[in-house]
Amino acid sequence: MQNLGKTLSQLKEQSRYRSLKLPHGIDLTSNDYLGMAQHTALRETAIRALRDGIDIGAAGSRLLRGHTTAHAELEEFASAHFNAGRALYFPTGFQANYALLTTLPERRDIVLYDELIHASMRDGLNAGKYKSYRFTHNDLNNLEDLLERYRNSADNIYIAAETLYSMDGDFAPLEDIHALAQRYDATLIADEAHATGIYGDQGKGLAYEIIAKHGYDNLITVHTCGKAIGVAGGLICANSEVVDYLINKARPFIYSTAPIPLQALLVQKSLEILASDDGKNRRDKLLLLSKRAKELFNGEGSQIVPIILGEDAKAVEIAKAMQDQGYDIRAIRPPTVPQGTARLRLSLSSNLDEDILQNFADALEQMS
Ligand SMILES: Cc1ncc(COP(=O)(O)O)c(C=O)c1O
Repeated sequence: MQNLGKTLSQLKEQSRYRSLKLPHGIDLTSNDYLGMAQHTALRETAIRALRDGIDIGAAGSRLLRGHTTAHAELEEFASAHFNAGRALYFPTGFQANYALLTTLPERRDIVLYDELIHASMRDGLNAGKYKSYRFTHNDLNNLEDLLERYRNSADNIYIAAETLYSMDGDFAPLEDIHALAQRYDATLIADEAHATGIYGDQGKGLAYEIIAKHGYDNLITVHTCGKAIGVAGGLICANSEVVDYLINKARPFIYSTAPIPLQALLVQKSLEILASDDGKNRRDKLLLLSKRAKELFNGEGSQIVPIILGEDAKAVEIAKAMQDQGYDIRAIRPPTVPQGTARLRLSLSSNLDEDILQNFADALEQMS
C-alpha cells in the first residue's frame, strides 16, 4: 500500500488532488439545471409514498424480487414519453452507459467514439472485448473516414457520442451523425445526460426530433436522471429487442440490486412535471440565462459554460478565490478534461438570475 501515499503526494504537487467539499455559497456547479432536486411536489410525492408504505429498499435484483410496480410504471411511462419501443431503468447513468458498452458490442463489432465522451462510456469501451476507435470531437469527416474503413470488416458498428458535452457545453451535430449511422448501417448511442429535461419538446432531449422521424432503428438514447430531472438513475431507451437483450445479458443490470422504488417513482413524477407548464417555465428561464452567459463568457449557448484557464494550479487558485466570494464553483482538471485545459465549469440553473451572473462575471474579471 506504500504507493498510495506517494501517488496522493504527487497529485497534491500537480494541483490534481481532489477532496470532498460540502455545498457552500451560490450554486454555480451542480447539474440541478432546473431546480428539480428541491421541487416541493417531488418532496410531497416522496412523503406520501413513504406514508403509504412503499418499501425502502428493492431488496433484490430486478430479475429477482427487486422489480416493483414503481420500476415497471416508470419504464412504461418513459417508453411512451421518449417514444421508444421500451425503456430500462438503472440505478445510475454511469451504470446504464457502462452496461450498454459492455453488453451490446461483441468481439467482431467496432465502436467509434467521440474523443470527449464521458468516463462511463469510456470505461465500458475499455472493458469490452471489441476494438474501438476514437474520432476527433464533433468531426464528421473523421467519423465518416472511420466508417468507410471499418464497415466491411466489422459485423456491427456502434457510434458513441453525447448530445451536449458535459465539460465543454457544446452540442453534437446530432442529425448528421445519425444520418451517417443510417448510411453505414451503424447504431448511434446518444448520451443525453445534459440535454434531457431541457432540450426538445417537453424536455425530451436533443434526439427527440430524429426519433419522431426515424424511430430507434439506428439509435439508442441514455437519459440520466440525476441532472435536470433532479433525482438519480439512468434510463436506456431503445427498440424492444435491445432492451430485452440487456435484461438477459447486461451484467450491471442482472447482478445488482434494483434502485430503491422511491427513486423510480420520483423520476416519473419529475418527468411529468417537466412535461407541464411548470417545466416549460423553468426551461424558458434557463435558456434565457444560457443566452446571457453566452454573451458574458463567450460560451456555446447551452447551460454549461466552460471558463478555460489552462494550468491546473491556476484553475484551483481561481476557484478558491471565487468560493471565498460566496460562489460555489469548482476547478475541473485532467483527467476529467484534456491536459492544459483546466477550467471552471459554470453550470447554470433556472434558480439563478441575470444579476448573479453579471456579478460573477465582474468578480472573475477583477481576478484576471
Ligand atoms: C455525459 C454523462 N454521461 C453519464 C453520466 C453518468 O450519470 P450519473 O451521474 O447518473 O451516474 C454523467 C455524469 O456525470 C455525464 O456527465
